[in-house]
Amino acid sequence: MNSIAAELNGTLEGTVADSLLSDLGRRMYFPKGIISQSAEAKKLAHRIDATIGIATEKGEPLYLKTIREALTGLTPKETFPYAPTAGIPPLREEWKKEIIKKNPSLAGKGMSLPVVVTGLTHAIAVVLDLFANPRDTLIVPDFFWDNYELIASDRLQAEVAGFPFFTPAGKLNVEGLADALRARRGGKAVIMLNFPNNPTGYTLTESEAERLVKAIRNEAEHNTRILVVCDDAYFGLFFEEGLKTESLFADLADLHPNVLAVKTDAATKEELVWGFRVGFVTYGSKGLDEKHYEALIQKTMGLIRSSISCSGTPSQYLVLKGLMDERHEVEKAATFKTVETRYRRVKELVRWMRGPLKPFPFNSGYFMTFRVPGDRAEDLRQALLKRGIGTIAIRPDCLRIAYSSVDAEKLDELFGCIDDEAVKLFGQGK
Ligand SMILES: Cc1ncc(COP(=O)(O)O)c(C=O)c1O
Repeated sequence: MNSIAAELNGTLEGTVADSLLSDLGRRMYFPKGIISQSAEAKKLAHRIDATIGIATEKGEPLYLKTIREALTGLTPKETFPYAPTAGIPPLREEWKKEIIKKNPSLAGKGMSLPVVVTGLTHAIAVVLDLFANPRDTLIVPDFFWDNYELIASDRLQAEVAGFPFFTPAGKLNVEGLADALRARRGGKAVIMLNFPNNPTGYTLTESEAERLVKAIRNEAEHNTRILVVCDDAYFGLFFEEGLKTESLFADLADLHPNVLAVKTDAATKEELVWGFRVGFVTYGSKGLDEKHYEALIQKTMGLIRSSISCSGTPSQYLVLKGLMDERHEVEKAATFKTVETRYRRVKELVRWMRGPLKPFPFNSGYFMTFRVPGDRAEDLRQALLKRGIGTIAIRPDCLRIAYSSVDAEKLDELFGCIDDEAVKLFGQGK
């Protein structure tokens, strides 16, 4: 039992709630992860808040004007009625077209129509509900979004087994995944992959992707049935040449009949609508045809119906209108460029740092992460908070910086302070 859950149970001890809690209720707690550290930063980080994974400019969210304008243009029918359980059909169709446009190698491959869910968190929860049993192992690289743990371990009682994300040379550790798969040879394997990655900001290269797909195919040929969940939250924010700029879903959707690929993605970051809560679940496998996809969609709908019933109507229409607007692509590229400009400055700044912090490789997304000596990331976070700067101690040995939410002109100050505090805590030199 998680220690925070145990503490909460202790507080409730002797009450009627305590005697009524379910096993799941007993296991639940609110982690001291990104959200609670971010809440702390909201109070204390009066200078710079680099905690939260949204994109901001001058204290306001970055947004697409096309979507903002659509807000006032919604008709009553686009606003008030229930949406269908699997989402409004034109949005599902349009999102599928978008997926193929962004991943041209999917053209002609079989895949389901996307099912609309309430954000990418919900997409992951629904997919794991559908495919993970208690005691199943979820294979993930050891850098992952902290909510996977709450969803998979605490809620579902599956085991989260990390393999090292990077090799000592700072490349993707494809062998680590291959080893984890080999250990399950002939059985069932559930893998979660997230590129661009939260928290490191790393996207695999084309050649790493080739090797990774080969490792999965090899294991599938040994009769291991493999579910690969592609968490594409930050899709499109690729800032270097040679990166894998299509989702791995495109390679996996027709890889082998023993591989089921699930694309979990969302308008959240791709369309800069974090609060709208519009996400999608899309299935693809060489072994499945239309009737199988329909059966999987029906099962997904069952999970939606039995939990949230359906997703919100206005936000689905707003995303649809944004996508259909002819100005959409240009406007979106310009906002992504804002994040890319920050990325380029951050790359320079980390090169100039004199202290002992080492950045993990990063080339995409919203974040970068430093390795902190002596498992003292929390000490460094606290020292920075005292200076009015909010960061996230994502692991005892890692500090995550969300440069997506820091204006370009504040980046020098941010990285200067991080460097100063690191030198104070750990001394000079790499
Ligand atoms: C890797 C990753 N997956 C999923 C999510 C959840 O996205 P959503 O806000 O759409 O639920 C996030 C959000 O921060 C994320 O970083």
